[in-house]
Amino acid sequence: MNRVCEILGITKPVVQAPMTWITSPELAAAVSNAGGLGILGFNAGFEEGKATPEETAEEMRKMVRRTKELTDKPFGMNVMTSAFDGAGFSKATIEMCREEGVLVLAAIGAIDADQIREWKEAGFKVIYRDMYPTVASAKAAEAAGVDILVATGCDEGGGMPVEATGTMVKTALMTEAVSIPVLAAGGIVNEAMAKASACVGAEGAYAGTRFVLSKECRAAQATKEDVLNTGADDLIVLTEANGYLKWRCTPHKVAQKAVAENQKGNLAPSTGSFYFGMLKGDMEAGINTVSSAASLIKSIDSCEEIVNELARGYGC
Ligand SMILES: Cc1cc2nc3c(=O)[nH]c(=O)nc-3n(C[C@H](O)[C@H](O)[C@H](O)COP(=O)(O)O)c2cc1C
Repeated sequence: MNRVCEILGITKPVVQAPMTWITSPELAAAVSNAGGLGILGFNAGFEEGKATPEETAEEMRKMVRRTKELTDKPFGMNVMTSAFDGAGFSKATIEMCREEGVLVLAAIGAIDADQIREWKEAGFKVIYRDMYPTVASAKAAEAAGVDILVATGCDEGGGMPVEATGTMVKTALMTEAVSIPVLAAGGIVNEAMAKASACVGAEGAYAGTRFVLSKECRAAQATKEDVLNTGADDLIVLTEANGYLKWRCTPHKVAQKAVAENQKGNLAPSTGSFYFGMLKGDMEAGINTVSSAASLIKSIDSCEEIVNELARGYGC
C-alpha cells in the first residue's frame, strides 16, 4: 500500500495544498470525498480577516464543522510552526483542531522539534513543508518525528523558495536523504508531472495550482480564466519581502509594477491583496500567483477528476 495513504487514512496520495483565502470547506471536502486529503488553508471560507488569534480560531471552527458536514473523511489544517507564529494565530487554531478532532496538520516554518513532539503526543499526523527546503531541514524534520515531508521546488505557485532548484531535483534530493514518505510540490498539475515525480521518489502530490482550476475552488471565475488564458512564456517572477520571497504571477498591473520596482532595486514592493486579486478576481488589485506549469492545465475540472488523474501518476 502507498505509505502516504496508509499514514493519512486516505485512498489516493493526493493532498490539496493550502492556499491562503481561496480554500474552503467545499474544496477540502470535495478532495477528501474523492479519496485525497483536503486542507483548510489560512482564512479558508472566511468573508473577512479576523483580528485576533481567538477570533480566527473560532471562525475556523465554523469551517471545520462545515467541512465535517460535507465529508466523513480525514482533512487537514494549515498551520505555522512556532518560528512563524509570533502572534499565536496557529497556536489557537491548533487547540481548536484538537477539540474538534482535526487530525492532520500541514505545517510551514522552521522546525521546532519540541513542538513536533507535542503535536505527535496530541495525536496529530504532521505533514511538514519547509518554504526554503534543504536536505538538512528534511533530516531535522524526520528526526523530530514528522510523518510526511513535502519537497517544494521553485516550480510552485504561491511564495516560491528563493533557491532556484526545481521540484524534480528537490524531490530526488529529499527522498535520498530521508526514509519518511515525500510529497512533491510545485508543478504537479497533471498525470505526467505526477508520474515524473514518482520516478524520482515522490509517493504523492501536494498540489495547489491544479486545484485553483477546480470547480469547487472559490477563487473567482475571472481568476481561473486568467490562469487558463496565460501562456507559459507570459508568467513573470517578482521578488518581495526584501529578497526573502518570490512569486510567479500572471502579468497583471500589480505584478508588472512590482517587477519594475525590483528593477529599480526595491526588493520589498507591494503585491496587493490576495483577497481581491485571487479570491475576488480583481487583477488590478492583487497578484494572481501560479506554478510555472500552469499553462499545462487545459480545463476547469471537478476535484474528483483531478484527484483521480494525479493519483494515476503514483499507480493508485
Ligand atoms: C495561490 C496560492 C496561495 C498559497 N498560499 C499558501 C499558504 O497560505 N500556506 C502554505 O503553506 N502554502 C501556500 N501555498 C503553497 C502551496 O501550499 C503549495 O506548496 C504549492 O501550491 C504547490 O505548488 P503548485 O501550485 O505548483 O501545485 C500557496 C500556493 C498558491 C498557488
